[in-house]
Amino acid sequence: MKKQLFALLVALMPVTGFAAGGAAVHLDEMTPDLHDKASLQNGMKLFTNYCMGCHSLEYQRYARAAEDLGIPQELVEENLIFSEDLAFNDQMRNAMSEGDAASWFGAAPPDLTLEARLRGTDWIYTYLRSFYKDGERPLGVNNTVFPLVGMPNVLEPLQGVQEMVCAETDRPVPGHEPDPLTGKYQSCDVLQVTQPGELEPAEFDQAIYDLTNFLAYVGEPSKLQAQALGPKVLLFIFIFGVIAYLLKREYWRDIH
Ligand code: HEC
Repeated sequence: MKKQLFALLVALMPVTGFAAGGAAVHLDEMTPDLHDKASLQNGMKLFTNYCMGCHSLEYQRYARAAEDLGIPQELVEENLIFSEDLAFNDQMRNAMSEGDAASWFGAAPPDLTLEARLRGTDWIYTYLRSFYKDGERPLGVNNTVFPLVGMPNVLEPLQGVQEMVCAETDRPVPGHEPDPLTGKYQSCDVLQVTQPGELEPAEFDQAIYDLTNFLAYVGEPSKLQAQALGPKVLLFIFIFGVIAYLLKREYWRDIH
């Protein structure tokens, strides 16, 4: 038995080794808040406006999202469904064929329904804020989280033009010590907005928070309901426990 257990441990080792690996890109943290309806609604608006031209949410229906986020049907139909072929009860598809997309961008834009579960929300939140100008790339942009990315920086009108410059940064730079006085790091890969867009940097971060929050909701739409159900189930178990206990006392009374 011991030998088998040992063999099992050894068999599992490389797997945990892989899991610990991966590129050492610094990710900014974001904690989704599925109770913040305003944030989720804004995220859905941003997604349908800026992302659905290329990315679908195949496993999510407009109707379900509208119900969960509290958006009336007419508003969704008027403002969030842009294709003639799609109706309120349809899945959030788009019309781009994979073949076309792959030849335009070098890679087909993947479906994003499960993206938050695949990559994590920190990754998405950081990725969408990490595009920068790079004249050597076919679309003129690169990304620090996803080097040589095939996606254009579709949010540039909101964020402005971001470039990589040499400056002081709060982000830890691997292999470098921070300045003992300021606690900041000197680095030549700091992303900085050099031409402002429609939004201030803090507003842009909030917009990306909302968008990522929406993708977190889409990855697990029943989580909201499950969380609401939890306390009710516990209350039921408690009340039922009391009744069961009284019943047990009643049954055993004659025996004792
Ligand atoms: C013009 C088309 C286009 C638009 C619009 C677009 N994307 Fe993309 N996106 C792509 C392509 C192409 C890729 C694949 C990049 C690659 O593999 O190099 C991609 C990749 C991604 C990925 C990474 C997928 C992975 O590999 O895990 C995420 C996340 C993403 N896009 C989110 C968004 C969001 C959010 C929006 C809206 C703000 C958006 N995209 C708008 C084309 C687009």
